[in-house]
Amino acid sequence: MMPFDFKSNTVFEPFRIKMVEPMPVLNAAQRHTCMVRAHYNLFKLQADEVTFDFLTDSGTGAMSAEQWAGMMRGDESYAGSRSFAHFEQSVQSLTGLAHVIPTHQGRAAEFLLMKALLKPGQIVAGNTHFDTTRANIEVAQGVALDLPSPKIWALDNTQIFKGDLDIELLRRTLKERASSVALVIMTLTNNSVGGQPVSMANIQAVKTLIAPYGIPLFIDCARFAENCYFIKHHESGYAARSIASIAHEVFSYADGAMMSMKKDAFGNIGGFLAVKDVNLAQELKNLMVVTEGFPTYGGLAGRDLEALAIGLKEILDEHYLHYRIHSTAYLGQGISAAGFKTVQPYGGHAIYIDAAQTLPHIPKDQFPGQSLSVALYQGLGIRSVEVGSVMLGKRDPLTGQEYPAPQELVRLAIPRRVYTQSHMDYIIEGLHAMHAYLPQFCPGYAFMEQSPVLRHFTAKFKPLI
Ligand code: F0G
Repeated sequence: MMPFDFKSNTVFEPFRIKMVEPMPVLNAAQRHTCMVRAHYNLFKLQADEVTFDFLTDSGTGAMSAEQWAGMMRGDESYAGSRSFAHFEQSVQSLTGLAHVIPTHQGRAAEFLLMKALLKPGQIVAGNTHFDTTRANIEVAQGVALDLPSPKIWALDNTQIFKGDLDIELLRRTLKERASSVALVIMTLTNNSVGGQPVSMANIQAVKTLIAPYGIPLFIDCARFAENCYFIKHHESGYAARSIASIAHEVFSYADGAMMSMKKDAFGNIGGFLAVKDVNLAQELKNLMVVTEGFPTYGGLAGRDLEALAIGLKEILDEHYLHYRIHSTAYLGQGISAAGFKTVQPYGGHAIYIDAAQTLPHIPKDQFPGQSLSVALYQGLGIRSVEVGSVMLGKRDPLTGQEYPAPQELVRLAIPRRVYTQSHMDYIIEGLHAMHAYLPQFCPGYAFMEQSPVLRHFTAKFKPLI
């Protein structure tokens, strides 16, 4: 007799909870007081004033029992630590890249790589560089060139793989100035454009184009496993392959990879740089001693290396990835059903709300994204991040003229293994209740104070009522 085989539509969290952390629960009046004190800037809130913290998925995940056990086994030897050997083996077996350099987080790997590879004026092309990657390219006096696929500009286009690089633009760039291109970086998933995945076909096409020029390909693999899940389920020929084998193929096209291990490696801190070339590896190791430390710890404690080595294996679990991608989409579907316009399709780690379409009564120069993110906090205790004209717009320091960003988005980034479905249900229910009141509840905002660089972190705002 065949056993009963239950096929459920409910995607449950494939972990049990062994340790809990109470969530701060504030009432609306308390949240209002906090927001006024923070001058309507969510970066200025204290963590214990936030119920649902969706500011970032970076370093905010929950470690497993096995990772915590690894913390206890961590070998703190300065040189030749056992935990480094474990870490190195974990990165090598994932990427196939021979030389592994630990760093204290992703941007430290970017800094070392740009210092070693980039000469002033040279170009680093990519599908879209993350902010810190761009900053490190510019600090090395290079030119950060984003070549995103035009698919991303239609926010409601539901095509998968909107994170791809525009192959035609790359071809043109190479034709005109291949000798100035120092390297190409593919960011998986493409965080700056909605966490959208990149297809294997696109990675292959990039490699094929640049190989004849001898230009190296690097992968920013902060969210590689989420990306590989999308390849498995949406790109033909990959359905029967394991996530590990898809990841091997991704890295087989690369000359190197860097990772912020605060994302898909379930770390609270950490990163790596891994390269094929022994001479480049030696140069990086010489450089790292100045800023990161000895090559067998790279700014991390042995216990961190141990936990990260374990996290990098755990992320390959398909039950986890199935739950991760579906729970992100579950929140996205709920937010859309509540009447908020969202970027389509839902990416791996975050939901992006299109604030300009959600709050059509607020002009761009009154920052609809800021308004929506304040309302999400005041109404429901959610901390999100504005990714619109506050963060990415420019202000002329002489005239005060504002130049808006192309899109007014609000990102809800979901920490890994931290929130449960009932948290998401509460948020969705709250958004349904809130939607009809948005015009009353969401005024425009103006800057009261702002700094010339990275103004979103410290700015003070006032509501225009
Ligand atoms: N690359 C990508 C794609 C990232 O998303 C980040 C960080 C980094 C590099 C830098 O890594 O923070 O370890 O130095 N992203 C975080 C975020 C901050 O909220 O998206 P890091």
